Amino acid sequence: MRLNIAIDGPVSAGKSSISDEVARRLGILHLDTGAMYRALGLKVLRDGTDPQDEEKVVATCRNLGVSVCHREDGQHTFVQGEDVTGLIRSPEVSMAASTVSRYAEVRKEMVRIQQQLAAETDMLVDGRDICTTVLPNATAKIFLTAAQEERARRRWLEMKEKGQETPFEEVLQALKERDEQDMNRPVEPLRRAPDAVLVDSTDLTFDETVETILQIVEEKRHG
Ligand code: DC
Repeated sequence: MRLNIAIDGPVSAGKSSISDEVARRLGILHLDTGAMYRALGLKVLRDGTDPQDEEKVVATCRNLGVSVCHREDGQHTFVQGEDVTGLIRSPEVSMAASTVSRYAEVRKEMVRIQQQLAAETDMLVDGRDICTTVLPNATAKIFLTAAQEERARRRWLEMKEKGQETPFEEVLQALKERDEQDMNRPVEPLRRAPDAVLVDSTDLTFDETVETILQIVEEKRHG
């Protein structure tokens, strides 16, 4: 039977790095769906399109030609054959991704691609609507979160390590804005699926969080 793991959660809950490690330990691929919305955000900004212009954004999405491939160093994301992996993590692209992900037609297209990929191979998929919409029948469904201040602290540390010295208050504010936008959009807002297992990593280390999730997967797989 196909092994599909679904992980949802808010900004900077550690989804990406935790998902990478859990997938590695399970010997399956990790699909980072946020990167696909980021790829669209990047294309929209490059085209000089206003991310608030739904009609234009939807048209861009239909011709995006987004694809992913998995290499030794993780997922690479492509737009019409161009590797944009290194270009989609800026604060501008983050905000644009959050804005364009509000549109129903954009979500429909992204979900279609994600479901196709997950049907082809065993996969761990992380995002915002994976448990609720993309893979409602996944083997294990997890909602990974942490307190807002703690998520902002992790994000701030991560930026500092990359040499980006941003005041903590600014990072916290940006995170609150993205939470607000992701949780209150009319189409498929971020919410915990009733049958997703809640993992709160506020007081857990990276390894403890990985172990907790692996244990949940084990229980779901073998009862
Ligand atoms: O996980 P991330 O920060 O890379 O995601 C970027 C944006 O894309 C985020 O603000 C919300 C959106 N997103 C979404 O709506 N659905 C997903 N499955 C993944 C991301």
